[in-house]
Amino acid sequence: MIIIDGKKVSAQVKEQVRLECEELRKKGVTPGLAVILVGDDPASRVYVNNKKKACELVGFKSEEFTLPATTSQEELLALVEELNEREDINGILCQLPLPKGLDENAVIEAISPIKDVDAFHKQNVGRIMIGDYDFLPCTPAGIMEMLHAYDIDVDGKNCVVIGRSNIVGKPMGMLLLHENGTVTICHSHTKNLSEITSKADILVAAVGKTKFVTADMVADGAVVIDVGMNRDENGKLCGDVDFEAVKDKCSYITPVPGGVGPMTISTLMKNTLKAAKLQNGLD
Ligand code: GUN
Repeated sequence: MIIIDGKKVSAQVKEQVRLECEELRKKGVTPGLAVILVGDDPASRVYVNNKKKACELVGFKSEEFTLPATTSQEELLALVEELNEREDINGILCQLPLPKGLDENAVIEAISPIKDVDAFHKQNVGRIMIGDYDFLPCTPAGIMEMLHAYDIDVDGKNCVVIGRSNIVGKPMGMLLLHENGTVTICHSHTKNLSEITSKADILVAAVGKTKFVTADMVADGAVVIDVGMNRDENGKLCGDVDFEAVKDKCSYITPVPGGVGPMTISTLMKNTLKAAKLQNGLD
């Protein structure tokens, strides 16, 4: 069993982005990322801090916009509009989830597709469906990068994704399909879940529930990717997979923390670099 080191792969990707950013800066372009955080969700705070830190490391400019939970839809859309217009901002990211009462879809659709470094805008989602895209969604693309780094071939494999969110589950299925995986997406209405998951060569868990994936749900020799970011009963960070019980059955497994999380951020850096290049005619 090999524990996939997301931190290490992410560091390699970020180093590549840092070098390319250096080249871009010589041409007078410094990539700029705007991060919008509304409200005071503690997990979102941590994610946003990590994104800002990564920007600093690779040489991007990052600007944070922290708004109170009481912000109106109009105020939030006005900020997005202002950032769409700014030439020094190449990427705009609004951290989700938004506080109750704010319309996430409206905010996503307001972001200019060329600055949509999360790849959440329907124009970018559609382009991913047909395989003609500029940006890939951060978490699924980070997972694919991790599989590549460990020479894990998807072609012809039985791939099972648990979770059907727009952010992870659905695009994850699509990227696995692009690499010729046979994909099943499971969700809360799926019958006989463990029967399906236990036939997976590659199992991706994006559920949001501690210890959701137990040993009996996993085939011997499976590759297990854990997208979960939960707290256990002691407040300790943990994923969706019962790591201790599952790890000895797997060929590869990602830990939490230190697995998928860092990869999400390195893809965001790649997307922001790409956005800066595209907006300056340098791609
Ligand atoms: N919330 C959880 N994951 C993500 C992400 O990748 N991007 C944004 N904007 N919000 C998130």
